[in-house]
Amino acid sequence: MAKNQQNTLEKIVSLAKRRGFIFQSSEIYSGLNGCWDYGPLGVELLRNLKDAWWKAMTYREDIEGLDASILMHPRVWEASGHVENFTDPMVDCKQCRSRYRLDVLYEGFNEKRRKKIADAYAEYLAAGNGDAEAFKAQEREKQMEIAGDALADQAPVFEAMNEKQLLVCASCGGTGTFTVPRKFNLMFKTFVGPVEDNSAVVFLRPETAQGIFVNFQNVAQSTRQKLPFGIAQIGKAFRNEINTKNFLFRTREFEQMEMQFFVRPGSDEDWYRQWRDIRMQWYLDLGMNPEKVRLTDHPEDKLAHYAKEAVDVEYLFPFGWGEIEGIHNRTDYDLGRHQEYSGKSMEYFDQEQDARYVPYVVETSAGASRSLMAFLVDAYDEEELEKETRTVLRFHPKLAPFKAAILPLVNRDGMDDIGLKLYRDLQKSFKVFYDDSGSVGRRYRRQDEAGTPYCITVDSQTLEDQTVTVRDRDSMEQERVAMDALKGYLLEKLAD
Ligand code: GAP
Repeated sequence: MAKNQQNTLEKIVSLAKRRGFIFQSSEIYSGLNGCWDYGPLGVELLRNLKDAWWKAMTYREDIEGLDASILMHPRVWEASGHVENFTDPMVDCKQCRSRYRLDVLYEGFNEKRRKKIADAYAEYLAAGNGDAEAFKAQEREKQMEIAGDALADQAPVFEAMNEKQLLVCASCGGTGTFTVPRKFNLMFKTFVGPVEDNSAVVFLRPETAQGIFVNFQNVAQSTRQKLPFGIAQIGKAFRNEINTKNFLFRTREFEQMEMQFFVRPGSDEDWYRQWRDIRMQWYLDLGMNPEKVRLTDHPEDKLAHYAKEAVDVEYLFPFGWGEIEGIHNRTDYDLGRHQEYSGKSMEYFDQEQDARYVPYVVETSAGASRSLMAFLVDAYDEEELEKETRTVLRFHPKLAPFKAAILPLVNRDGMDDIGLKLYRDLQKSFKVFYDDSGSVGRRYRRQDEAGTPYCITVDSQTLEDQTVTVRDRDSMEQERVAMDALKGYLLEKLAD
C-alpha cells in the first residue's frame, strides 16, 4: 500500500475510534485479532446501513425476510460443501512461527519474485513433471498465476520452490523455511450439550445463506409465494481467517446481508443480470462515488464449485480494489444437495407449467461490516478552508448516525430551553444530538466529523420569529427554517 494511502487508512481508523464508531474488541486485554466492536456512532451507522438494505430488499412483494439460527445441524455443512471445501492453504514459517494463508503470502511478493517462481515452475515441468508445453503457451501473467496456484495445490512444487529459497517470510525475512501447505478449514467448531465428543460438534455458520436454503419449503408454504421469489436475511457469520487484515475488511466475526432469489430454470441468467444491476445501483443511490465502485466478473476458471456465473461489486479501498458483495448464479446446486443429504424434497410445483422441479438460485451476498467500511472510507474527506483543514464524513443522510444536531447559540436568554424542547420533539422521529458546550464553530466541526448532515442553531432571531438556522454539512450554507416546519424539512431530506 502506498504511504499516503496507508496514512488515509490510519486516519480513518483513528477517527473511527476517537469518535466512537469502531473499537478494537477486548481492547483493555490487548484486543482479540479479527474482532471489532461498534461504538455509539458505529452501531447507528451499521443499523442504518442494514435498514437501507432491508427496505430495498424486502419492502417488495416478491421477497420475504428470515432470521435463522447461527448454529445449525452439522449435516447442513456437509451438504453445502463447507466441511470439504471451505479451506484455505496454510503455511508456517519454521523460523519465527508466523502463519500465513499461502495465497496471501504469494500476493505480497513483487513481480520479480513471482517471475522467478514461474520460471522455477517451468523448470520443474520441463523435468518431466507435467505439461510443460501447455504451460509455456500461456501469457506471462497467466504463467505467474498458475505457478502461484500450483504452490497451494501440489506439495512437491512447493518443496521445490522452498529449496530454491524463493519463498520469503514477510515477518522474519527467512527463506525456504516453510512447512508444506495444509488445508485449514475456516469454520469455527463448538459443541452442543455437556459432552465434548465428535457427535456433539456443531459449527458457527460461515455464511447466512444455508439458513435460507434449508427453510426454502417452510417459507414457500407459509407465505404461498410463487416463483420467482426471494428470501432475505441479515446476520452474523464467522470465519476463522488465517490472516485478518485491513481493519473491518477481513475479520473473523462479521455480518452478512444475503438474499437468495428462487427462479425457474432457464430464467436464471436473466435474473442474474437484473440482480447485478439492482445491487450496483443500491451503492450508488446511497451516495458511493461512482469512480470507486465497479463490477468485476469472475473468469470461468475461477468460479466457486457451486456457481455458473459470478460477479463482485468492488470498492477502491486505500489498499486497492476489494470485494464488498458477490452476486452468484448458484443454479440448483444448494437445494439439490440439501434434497440429497436430508432426503426431503426441495421441489417446487409450477402450476403454470404443470411441472415439478428444483428451483435455480440467484444470490446477492453483501458484507454489512465490509460495506460499512467502504461507506466510511468513501465518506471521509479533508477540506482545506482558509485557516484550517476540516475533517468531514459526507455520509448520505440515510446512513448518517445522527440526522441533525441542535445547538443553542448561547446558554441563556431562553435559547437553551428552546433548543432542548426542539431536541426532545425531533427525537420522537429522528436520532438527533444536543450540544450546548463550546463555541458554535467547534460544535459544527464535531458534527462534521460525526457525519451529521444538518446542524440546527437556535439564535436571537429564534426568540422573535420562531425560526432557526439549518446548516448543511457539505456546502456549509445556512438557511432559515420555521421550527414547526423542521420535521417535514428533515423527512424530505431523508427521502432523497
Ligand atoms: N453466501 C456466499 C458468500 O458467503 P462470500 O464471497 O464468501 O460469499 C460474501 O462472502 C460477502 O461477505 C463478501 O463480499 C464480504 O463482503 C463478506 N465477507 C466475507 N468474508 C468476510 C470476512 N472475513 N470479513 C468481513 N467480511 C467478509
